[in-house]
Amino acid sequence: MIHTRVIVVKNPDEMGVKAADQFEALIQSKPACVIGLATGSTPVPLYKELISREKAGKIDFSRVRSANLDEYKGLAPDHPQSYRKFMQENLFDHISIKPENTIVPDGLAEDVEAMCAAYEEKIEAWGGVDLQLLGIGHDGHIGFNEPEDHFPTMTHEVKLTDMTIDANKRFFESIDDVPKYAISMGIGTIMAAKQIVMVVTGADKKDILHKTFWGPVTPEVPASILQFHPNVTLICDEAAYPL
Ligand code: F6R
Repeated sequence: MIHTRVIVVKNPDEMGVKAADQFEALIQSKPACVIGLATGSTPVPLYKELISREKAGKIDFSRVRSANLDEYKGLAPDHPQSYRKFMQENLFDHISIKPENTIVPDGLAEDVEAMCAAYEEKIEAWGGVDLQLLGIGHDGHIGFNEPEDHFPTMTHEVKLTDMTIDANKRFFESIDDVPKYAISMGIGTIMAAKQIVMVVTGADKKDILHKTFWGPVTPEVPASILQFHPNVTLICDEAAYPL
């Protein structure tokens, strides 16, 4: 563990508060900042906190731009399990962010490569991601970058592992409904963010968290690359904290 700052909190709600502090500080110092966002269960308390802080007048999202990490391939934006829909319901519909200032990879793109290249170009045109939010999968994935023999660099199509499909089946009627492919920012895209905040809660993430920050850096644990990023804050609850 080289540069990582670790904040250990009591529970997911406190994680939400501490992570929201990072966003609030950034947005106050740079109102038109670019934030990278994640879906999944872990960030939900954070999104609730951000919504209530904007309602309380502490944050203003009206000039913020956001780019999401990933999207399932084959799901339309209004599909109940699409990540676009998740972001609308859990955050965007409740804050003043402008719809044209939120991007999520297009799960229906016919030319996936061109869409991925355009996604990278858009982020670059915005000046890059100031603060990237990350969760972590049980196999160490960040975004949908699954364990491999190399670190995938830019936004690309990925084949989901059986472990990820199994973990995500809770949101679908049956495991057969879980898409087998996704589009994800690459490790290079993520590492290019100026600041990274990873949020992790629950005892089931303890082992992978240990491997990620206290084990060797290897593409078999994609998140372990974060040890090489100069500005990472890990916010985890006591249940997930491995030491
Ligand atoms: C979601 C994402 C994934 C999740 C990870 C953990 O956009 O990028 O890497 O962060 O699968 O998901 P939860 O928080 O549901 O355990």
